[in-house]
Amino acid sequence: MPSSIDFKALPRRAEIVEVCPRDGFQNIKTFIPTAQKIAILDALSEVGYKTIEVTSFVSPKAVPQMADALEVMTDFKRKHPDIEAVALVPNVKGAEKALLGGADTLNFVLSASESHNMENTRKTIDESLVALAEVCKLADAAGKAKVHASVATSFYCPFEGEIAKSAVLRIVDKAFSLGCAGVSIADTIGTAHPVKLQDTLSAVRERYPNQKIVLHLHDTHGFALANTLVALSLGFTIFDASVGGLGGCPFAPGAAGNVATEDMVNFLEKIGVSTDLNLKKILEISARIPEKTGAALCSHLAAVQSAACAGGGA
Ligand code: COA
Ligand code: ZN
Repeated sequence: MPSSIDFKALPRRAEIVEVCPRDGFQNIKTFIPTAQKIAILDALSEVGYKTIEVTSFVSPKAVPQMADALEVMTDFKRKHPDIEAVALVPNVKGAEKALLGGADTLNFVLSASESHNMENTRKTIDESLVALAEVCKLADAAGKAKVHASVATSFYCPFEGEIAKSAVLRIVDKAFSLGCAGVSIADTIGTAHPVKLQDTLSAVRERYPNQKIVLHLHDTHGFALANTLVALSLGFTIFDASVGGLGGCPFAPGAAGNVATEDMVNFLEKIGVSTDLNLKKILEISARIPEKTGAALCSHLAAVQSAACAGGGA
């Protein structure tokens, strides 16, 4: 007889990193006025997050939505100095700008798949690793900023299909050898299933039992919460999530949103894993996202709530 999941053996706490202002907004074509982005960040700062991914410093030609990154980051750090502000950067130029804006952590993005790395950053993986080394030196010289390597397409790639765990380990090895404070393992297109996820994650965890490893899950195939449970059982406790389930890489065809923060919090709290986040406030922000950004929500809990508001709740 198969043994049951030992929920009592799961970690008691998990940290959720809010990524809607970066991953969510980058995939919205119509420019969200800077004041609206700032208003959403101000509201998010009341939820209890230790860490928020505030924006990305990328080419405004590649992602026009992020053209106001410096203004958004500067405003955020001035008003919310106690929240760790993360900025995604694809190159040295982005890192320089993010440091200028006062970012605490630089999420240097590169992909485990060559094709997606080229599509997303116009570099080979080796070229990205050279840039990562330079970004680590820059952050070191600047003093307080940390660098994380954000490994996109860690499980499946829209162009190459399944990604070998050796490709992920190669980047993780290099990142930690360069002195990165953490890595993020990303299911960029949201198609990883628990068997694939467990195989790659357990290899990473076995090699790096004590290093900071963040999990970044999209929910294209609806597997994100099942994957969260698998990751928790392997001892992973830091998860990216996006209010309203917004998100998606503009350079990864078919990618849907990140797992919705409200669904992640609801799920974790129900299975006895505390997040220290205020779910009521998250839902209030989520409900205002369509009006503020023009984006549709992709969130179970928000759908239940709006159905209840419209009198359709049961
Ligand atoms: N921030 C702002 N501007 C940047 C920049 C950055 N990080 N990196 C490059 N640029 C500017 C350059 O100054 C140059 O401007 P110019 O034409 O006015 O002189 C222009 O962008 C092109 O620069 P180049 O170095 O030739 O870059 P590229 O065209 O090869 O593009 C990237 C490479 C990485 C900059 C671009 O593909 C990019 O921003 N990708 C990010 C994709 C992304 O955000 N994906 C989603 C997150 S996973
Ligand atoms: Zn993402």
